[in-house]
Amino acid sequence: MTNKINNSKGSLHGYWSSRISFILAVAGSAVGLGNIWKFPYIAGVNGGGAFVLVYILCVFLIGLPILVSEILIGRMGRRNPASSMEAMALQSSSSKKWAFVGLMGILSGVLILSYYSVIAGWSLAYIFESFSGTFVNANSTIVEESFFSLSSSWKITMFWHSLFMIITAYVVSKGVAEGLEKAVRLLMPLLILLLLILLVYSALEGEFIAGLSFMFAPRFHDLTADGILVALGHAFFTLSVGMGAIMAYGAYLPDNMSIGRISISVVLADTFIALISGLVIFPIVFANGLDPEAGPGLVFMSLPMAFGNLPGGIGLGVIFFTLLSFAAWTSAISLMEPAVAWAVEKFKIQRVTASFFICLIIWVFGLGTVFSFSLLSDFLLLGRNIFDNLDYLTSNILLPLGGLMIVIFASWVVNIDSLSIQLDKSRGIFFRLWLFLSRYIAPIGVMIIFFYSVNIFST
Ligand code: PHE
Repeated sequence: MTNKINNSKGSLHGYWSSRISFILAVAGSAVGLGNIWKFPYIAGVNGGGAFVLVYILCVFLIGLPILVSEILIGRMGRRNPASSMEAMALQSSSSKKWAFVGLMGILSGVLILSYYSVIAGWSLAYIFESFSGTFVNANSTIVEESFFSLSSSWKITMFWHSLFMIITAYVVSKGVAEGLEKAVRLLMPLLILLLLILLVYSALEGEFIAGLSFMFAPRFHDLTADGILVALGHAFFTLSVGMGAIMAYGAYLPDNMSIGRISISVVLADTFIALISGLVIFPIVFANGLDPEAGPGLVFMSLPMAFGNLPGGIGLGVIFFTLLSFAAWTSAISLMEPAVAWAVEKFKIQRVTASFFICLIIWVFGLGTVFSFSLLSDFLLLGRNIFDNLDYLTSNILLPLGGLMIVIFASWVVNIDSLSIQLDKSRGIFFRLWLFLSRYIAPIGVMIIFFYSVNIFST
């Protein structure tokens, strides 16, 4: 990011130095635990097939137009998400209350990061677990036991959660672009390469056809109304939309860069990585008698089986969990950025101070998740533990709600001439498609799924 520019139309927090650094930052935000840890386990719990189909539809018809909307609003507002929305609303002679959507997003980011950091901590722990050789020739009992002994030990998970929060806050306190850009540029291609190597392993050694059919054969009877909501929520989660992360990044995007192509490449890459992860994991699950419905531990149990049985498996395991931790890190930074940018602007404090306090708040919230796999695992509310409730509230309610408001705001409230100047001056096919998806398909889609999942249609 270049230096601070303090005029009224510019970004207070600097700019991305190039188009590629913006793409990398957005891709770094999108690709994370959501693709490799969360997608396979929720697809497993929701019966695969039809769930994956709904997820893909939601990504392209709802998530993509919202991603574009967020970048647009961010770039036009040039502030933290709440102030950007307020500024755009005033400019379009609309209510200042739109800022509330930005604030809700900031809260969602804080809540998501509180549990995200705990899972990322597991990934850090697994770098060392792999290194120590625990998984050499491992069978399903060994991988299951290793996972449960880690997740149920609150002291160890609290340690890794703390470490992860510290390294995240460190980067955010420095300003987002420094360091982040280099890390993503190198590590993302490596992550993809490693996933492809694992895919070959799965195809040769796993029950590949069973995995393929689990993921892609649409069995609609397995899909519940709640499963549809989870698929929608995950489309938001995986693209990092609905809470302002991308809006915050868009605020640092120089005016002359095209938004359309950037968004499409990010969405394609993100979806590709999620699908490949599923195709790596499920054949291993089926070949080794693991349970596809194992939940949050699925990746941490299935992949070590592969590493344990591959030549050079220790090295591969170490590299894989290192890359996964990096992917989580670049996402975590974007989860924290809106809150920090907001605190800096609101309280006129330094970035370092803001990062410290926000980090502390998130860390404390994170203890809820740490304990929900150990001391408080029996503490259920609405039939879910603390982690599941946080995930449900954020992914399935707050993100879709935030995304709904953002897309309505961008396509209905913001002045259409300024939009087309930002997106496509000639108002070509991309612009018209975006406008149509944003005005009608995305909002109606979100509302139908919401109502459907609270069973309004059957009562
Ligand atoms: N998209 C990230 C992932 O898939 C998570 C995330 C959600 C990041 C929301 C920012 C905002 O892991």
